[in-house]
Amino acid sequence: MTDPKKLFIKTYGCQMNVYDSERMAEAMGAEGYVTTEVMEEADLILLNTCHIREKASEKLYSDLGRMKPLKRDRPDLKIGVAGCVAQAEGEEILRRMPLVDIVVGPQSYHRLPEMAKTGRKQIDTEFPVEDKFALLPERRAGRGPTAFLTVQEGCDKFCAFCVVPYTRGAEVSRPKARILAEARSLVERGVREITLLGQNVNAYHGDGAAPGLAPLIRELALIPGLDRIRYTTSHPNDMDPALIAAHAEVEQLMPYLHLPVQSGSDRILKAMNRKHTAAQYLRLVDRIRAARPDILLSSDFIVGFPGETDRDFEDTMDLIRAVGFGAAFSFRYSARPGTPAAEKTPVPGDVADQRLHALQALLTDQQRAAQAAMVGRTVGVLYEKPGRLPGQMVGKSDHLHAVHVHDPAARVGELVRVRISAAAPNSLAGIRMAD
Ligand code: SAH
Ligand code: SF4
Ligand code: F3S
Repeated sequence: MTDPKKLFIKTYGCQMNVYDSERMAEAMGAEGYVTTEVMEEADLILLNTCHIREKASEKLYSDLGRMKPLKRDRPDLKIGVAGCVAQAEGEEILRRMPLVDIVVGPQSYHRLPEMAKTGRKQIDTEFPVEDKFALLPERRAGRGPTAFLTVQEGCDKFCAFCVVPYTRGAEVSRPKARILAEARSLVERGVREITLLGQNVNAYHGDGAAPGLAPLIRELALIPGLDRIRYTTSHPNDMDPALIAAHAEVEQLMPYLHLPVQSGSDRILKAMNRKHTAAQYLRLVDRIRAARPDILLSSDFIVGFPGETDRDFEDTMDLIRAVGFGAAFSFRYSARPGTPAAEKTPVPGDVADQRLHALQALLTDQQRAAQAAMVGRTVGVLYEKPGRLPGQMVGKSDHLHAVHVHDPAARVGELVRVRISAAAPNSLAGIRMAD
């Protein structure tokens, strides 16, 4: 018997790519491929790429450059580029990097097994009408007690800075029955926490009598053994009252919400085409906190969007002070080809850098304050892996904080009550309470 072929996947970008990589690994698994962590021993290398900022995109080319000697030594090695750069740049990738054999977009990777079989160069960046998820082998993953589950893809919002509507296409929601079946099979394999994914997950419109994300969450909450539900990423304008009510009423829905605002300046929000004001965002935050007072909010920010003045930036700082975020991701604006904002005059790089620095300092203070405020509280922690110290477990709290617990008899996958005893810069420590 010959050794099975080996697949190495590197994933860049967002959680949707993490999910897609798992599905691609399973699709290739059905063809007899096993995954490897060692790139050098792979027969097929797949780079699942991200196009969101220039740096993310360029990473692909530096990584491909480093693979040249590998391909020279082993001409039968196949190299594939998947994900959002594949979608955005297509053939250009083959022109710039002739060592690439396969270019496959996020909507057509169900064709990967067939593409990997031929000796010719293959490109597929179609948005096919068929549902790729229906054509892929059944989901088997579930390494550990948490899993991602894509429920919605694509985006119709066209924020002026963003490539996602072009790389992922129009908003599409997966049929509810398939999502529920996938969730049940994950739970059967030991998963206790599912994070529902979508570029605009709260725009999920489902099907049948009860559309929307809230009814889906309520149905998922009926699955015995599914103890925790999260969802990401949400657009403020799609936080409907039913979803806010779910935060008050569905016990399994965890008290953490990623709700990107990007800026606190109405002028910039308008130029970004976000379609809401800073005041509307603040009111929304109030309504969410009224429903679930202990909810921890996180957000994304872009600084140095074209036209951003010191005054606009101060408005963003004011919004951050008004909300108090528990976590955040912030980025310097990156002009992306094909987006409307890319035509505009950029803010000078040093100004943008200074603003990013100030904004991150404020957000770090808030994150530390949110962690310190957990000390003395008792929260749920789902153990995900053993810690570095003997007898230690690491898991995530209800509020998505990493928590270290000395608990020698425990197993991965246990959901326990923990009293938080200390806060470190990036994690918490706690003591397991009796059940
Ligand atoms: N769908 C999500 C975000 C997807 S992209 C939403 O609407 O919020 C993730 C984050 O990357 C965005 O929230 C934004 O903060 C950042 N981002 C997107 N395009 C960017 C660009 N051109 N430059 C810098 N940051 C960008
Ligand atoms: Fe991009 Fe805006 Fe769509 Fe989010 S809502 S994916 S930022 S276009
Ligand atoms: Fe990047 Fe595509 Fe996700 S551009 S952030 S991998 S949707």
